[in-house]
Amino acid sequence: MAQYEDKVLHELDGIKEYDNPMPGWLMAIWWGSLIFSAGYLIFYALSFGEGTMDAEYRAETVQTVTAVQSHFDANPIVPPSPAELLGGAANDAVLAAGESRFTRTCAACHGDKAQGLIGPNLTDDRWIHGGSVEQVFQSIAKGWPAKGMPPWGRALRPDELAALVSYVRSLQGSTPPNPRAPEGDPFVAEAIPGR
Ligand code: HEC
Repeated sequence: MAQYEDKVLHELDGIKEYDNPMPGWLMAIWWGSLIFSAGYLIFYALSFGEGTMDAEYRAETVQTVTAVQSHFDANPIVPPSPAELLGGAANDAVLAAGESRFTRTCAACHGDKAQGLIGPNLTDDRWIHGGSVEQVFQSIAKGWPAKGMPPWGRALRPDELAALVSYVRSLQGSTPPNPRAPEGDPFVAEAIPGR
């Protein structure tokens, strides 16, 4: 660029360093974006003004929670009848589904044979929260969150919940090795029809 050739600052071994300022349009973008980013940061990130990221996030969260809650209200968890749950304990397909779900979801806390680990032994005749199939359904569906038992009623399908109760019932008296010590009150398991 001929117009700058008189502005040589240094010359070393034939290499010339010119004082070429950046073009005005590039500097305008640079300063423009710097000023814009300061305003953007103050307005959005630091949450001054209406419609900030924080306010939008809160509004969307409230919307989602409300939608989920109204879906839950419209679709309450309906426990199957005891006859259905006990019938499942005599049905190999139901038991296989229950076992598969138990292995994936429950074994980590209750042991692979339900012998008890972090959670109680589910094969003995002692129950902290009651051993009838209805009570076991409630324990699984609603959980005992304060005691470390998560609620599964909304995480699993209704047929999976029912299959788990039938499977747990079928394990009664199975005496797996290394059981956790009995906890709770004795309950005489209800009869499984046809077994
Ligand atoms: C994160 C660990 C954890 C997982 C996973 C878990 N449980 Fe539990 N469960 C517990 C604990 C801890 C208790 C004991 C709660 C108490 O002491 O009140 C319990 C209690 C129970 C009870 C009541 C036992 C009684 O004596 O009354 C049943 C039934 C049960 N769990 C079934 C299940 C099933 C079925 C699953 C899988 C869907 C499952 N749990 C997954 C930790 C777990």
